Amino acid sequence: MASNFNEISKRRTFAIISHPDAGKTTLTEKLLLYGGAINLAGSVKGKKTAKFAVSDWMDIEKERGISVTSSVLQFSYEGYCINILDTPGHQDFSEDTYRTLMAADSAVMVIDAGKGVEAQTRKLFKVCTLRHIPIFTFINKMDREARDPFELMDEIEELLGIRTCPVNWPIGCGKNFKGVYDRRQREITSFHASHAGMQEIATESWSVDAPELGQRIGEDYKAQLMEEIELLDGASDELDMERVGRGDLTPVFFGSALTNFGVETFLEHFLKMTSAPLGRRTKQGEVQPMRDDFFSAFVFKIQANMNRAHRDRIAFMRICSGEYDAGMEVTHVQGGRKIRLNQSTQMMADERKIVERAYAGDIIGVFDPGIFAIGDTLTDARETVEFEGIPTFAPEHFARLRQVDTMKRKQFTKGVYQIAQEGAIQIFQERNTGMEEIIVGAVGVLQFDVLTHRLKQEYNVEVRLDQLPYEYIRWIENPQEVDPDRIQGTSDMKLIQNLKGDPLLLFSHEWSVRMVEDRNPGLKLSEFGRN
Ligand code: G4P
Repeated sequence: MASNFNEISKRRTFAIISHPDAGKTTLTEKLLLYGGAINLAGSVKGKKTAKFAVSDWMDIEKERGISVTSSVLQFSYEGYCINILDTPGHQDFSEDTYRTLMAADSAVMVIDAGKGVEAQTRKLFKVCTLRHIPIFTFINKMDREARDPFELMDEIEELLGIRTCPVNWPIGCGKNFKGVYDRRQREITSFHASHAGMQEIATESWSVDAPELGQRIGEDYKAQLMEEIELLDGASDELDMERVGRGDLTPVFFGSALTNFGVETFLEHFLKMTSAPLGRRTKQGEVQPMRDDFFSAFVFKIQANMNRAHRDRIAFMRICSGEYDAGMEVTHVQGGRKIRLNQSTQMMADERKIVERAYAGDIIGVFDPGIFAIGDTLTDARETVEFEGIPTFAPEHFARLRQVDTMKRKQFTKGVYQIAQEGAIQIFQERNTGMEEIIVGAVGVLQFDVLTHRLKQEYNVEVRLDQLPYEYIRWIENPQEVDPDRIQGTSDMKLIQNLKGDPLLLFSHEWSVRMVEDRNPGLKLSEFGRN
């Protein structure tokens, strides 16, 4: 009994998010370096050319020969068992990132100190706040010319709407990046670069009150630091972990992933601050992770054709409570049947690592014969719960999809359904008509290319895809109260439905959304639906 408690309480499961190029890959790699997973860190090549859903982890794996799955990377550090969830970098795959965040207990937001908050950071942040998960900020690239740290704090607060609390504070930047000041310990840590960031670096710490401070960092920097400390202590928010837990306040760290400056300090503080696996809401109440007698998990990602030779699908699930043992029998709640997670169905994505045992907080990849959908729950036979669905991010691109060869109706339908099940696209129909014409929605326009390509390659179906002029989608939340067919619309509005028959509206202009709300008192529209 006690062993589960120990195993679960040492787990830390988080995702790293960033605008492309802010340093997510570099920081991840450096965290691995400190975890001893790799001896020499180097930048991960090949990711720039990686297209579509090819995972960065695959590349790391190929390069470094370390064992990782394509979606999660597990390593140990100082008694913690760390799971870092991969989030794809390309903005057209941001929905994948949103779902991955559902499986995380916290997120680390990497910001480029020279650029501040960028477009993709804002988008990703929006979903973090939907979930109210704790967000930790790592302001990266302090070894380069950086913007004023106060200005960066203000920008985060203003653009993202979250309060900031610096845990440490940078002393200088660029060539003059002297180190960081730890506000709680009142200690300065300075760094000595070694092996150009290829190894853990030597650090030296001393009190901010040490008489030789001026000599060490220079009188000017000392004077500036003292002034800034006073300002920070007087004006910045207290580090209130309850507010952090709610996602109202983000602890901020400064450093440079490339040179390792501040990486270990960050890791140590972060692991103490972030929580062990948290309870998860289900339709039947909250499930506590520490339960020894009850295994539960939910699917947050489905990835097809990870192994081209086998054309398989892997369903990634987050274990929410209890323990997973190879060969255990579980109930697939949505499918209403029992399945055995045995040897053949329980491989990790790289096919080399078979997991015999895993615990709440861990992610496992299970072979999916086409039965799982995103958001599905698995529980062991003792009890049935259903995790709350994963919100669907509003698609911003729409297209009408037709098959060229109408003889291939079956493959067409199967292909479109399966790809939609993986969450890459969402499918809709005209209201009150059949499936003759499918309307496809995607968060990123690149998904349309992936769709047509995959339908041809995997299902041997040629399709025609005509983009539609709509950009905004709204779920009608109260169709029982407001009859969707009687809505007073605008000329650019279109009424559609999803496969469950839920009514939705498409618009070309945002102002039309407001106009329709005004014209139809009592109508409740929502930007987010549920699978
Ligand atoms: P991403 O995953 O968020 O897209 O970013 P990634 O880590 O790939 O970093 C993007 C670029 O920024 C890389 O340079 C990387 O070396 C650099 N970088 C990351 N962290 C730091 C840092 O702390 N300081 C500095 N100066 N640079 C940093 P690149 O030239 O695009 O690629 P590469 O050829 O170096 O791999």
